[in-house]
Order: sequence, then C-alpha cells, then structure tokens
Amino acid sequence: MTEHRKLSPGKLIIASHNQGKVREIRALLAPFGIEPVSAGELDLPVPEETGTTFAENALLKARASAEAANCVALSDDSGLCVTALNGAPGVYTADWAEADIYEGGPGRDWYMAMGKVEGKLAELGPEADRSAYFVCTLALAWPDGHSEVFEGAVHGNLVWPPRGTRGFGYDPVFQPIGFKQTFAEFDPQQKHDMSHRADAFDKLVKACFD
Ligand code: IMP
Repeated sequence: MTEHRKLSPGKLIIASHNQGKVREIRALLAPFGIEPVSAGELDLPVPEETGTTFAENALLKARASAEAANCVALSDDSGLCVTALNGAPGVYTADWAEADIYEGGPGRDWYMAMGKVEGKLAELGPEADRSAYFVCTLALAWPDGHSEVFEGAVHGNLVWPPRGTRGFGYDPVFQPIGFKQTFAEFDPQQKHDMSHRADAFDKLVKACFD
C-alpha cells in the first residue's frame, strides 16, 4: 500500500485564482480544521500551464504556490472531456474561453466556450455522441518538494441551450448521468456531493487526513 503524507491542521494555500474553484475547495475543506488562503488573496504568481496532462498542470500550480509562500499548497487542474471530440477541450478547457474582448477587455467568456463545443458537435450531425465528463486533478505540494496527486471524474451528457445560473464554467451545459438538471441548476451542496472535484477530494481525504 502506498504511504501518503498526512495534512496537519493549519494554513494551506489554495493555488488558484479561479473564484469558482476556490469557493468549492473552501467548502470541501471546511470540516477539516484547515485554514485556506487563496493564491489570489496572497497575490502569488500564476505559473504558465505548459503541461500536457491535468496532473502536470496541477503540480506546476501547487509547486509554484508552495515555493512562493513556503507553505503547503493545494491546486486543482480540471476540464471537460467530450467523447465525440476525442477528449477535447480537455487540458485546454480554460483556453477555449479566452476572448479578446469580454466585459470591456480580454477575459474568459464561458458562453462563447460552450458555444464552441456545441458548434463542433453540430458539425458531427444530429446523431453525435453527447456524452462528456469533467476531470479534476488535485495536487498537494509541500515546500520541501514532496507532492501527492488525486484524480476524480463525473460523467454526463451535454445539453443545449445552456441552463441555470449557479456554479461556474461549463456547468450550464453539463447534465450528470441520472439527473434532469444541469450542474448550474443544482443546489451548490448537491454539486459538492457528487462532482469530479468531490470525487478527487474524497481520495485526498482518505489518503491525507487521519
Ligand atoms: P484550469 O484547471 O485552470 O485549466 O481550468 C479548467 C476549466 O475547466 C475551468 O476554468 C472551467 O471552465 C472548467 N471547469 C473545471 N471544473 C468545472 C466545474 O466544476 N464546472 C464547470 N466547469 C469546470
């Protein structure tokens, strides 16, 4: 059996500048006596995501924050993988939302990104396979260089048009298997109980908390 390093109560950096992710990770950490501070609050540098896998990018982000703040850091690299698009956008999920002009300047336009996915499915015709899954890879990095990685997933289908105003990113088009609502129509706690982030987090909890 693999030995995992345990997480002690105390300060932990959430190595993300994405407020949706920070909000969900805070809620998941709440019961564990951890004091989360986000990389955004500490103004920590954002490393370039040059990896070609979720794990590589998660480790890049966790290590950058752990080194800069000399504190254990938790990062999340996640994305949407669409079966009919051979797993795209995958590690490039956030890039598909990059817009030159969004709310007055460069930014991420999630409605444009969801439209891009839908456009590519439409090119494949009405019979296109609409199944997709979200992946979440959590990486923990300690200032001494030790790291741990956990991966979770949730499977579902893509709907169009987008529905719901909760959640973030691609939630309005993702309908998990067995449900009639999209993640953006879910109560936040319901999403926390079953998301790809919750799945990865369960594995982290089993490995790193006593
Ligand atoms: P990255 O991990 O910073 O490369 O960004 C991954 C992107 O995937 C996010 O910015 C979101 O758009 C999308 N994503 C990840 N998790 C979720 C989720 O729980 N709901 C909706 N979109 C998500």
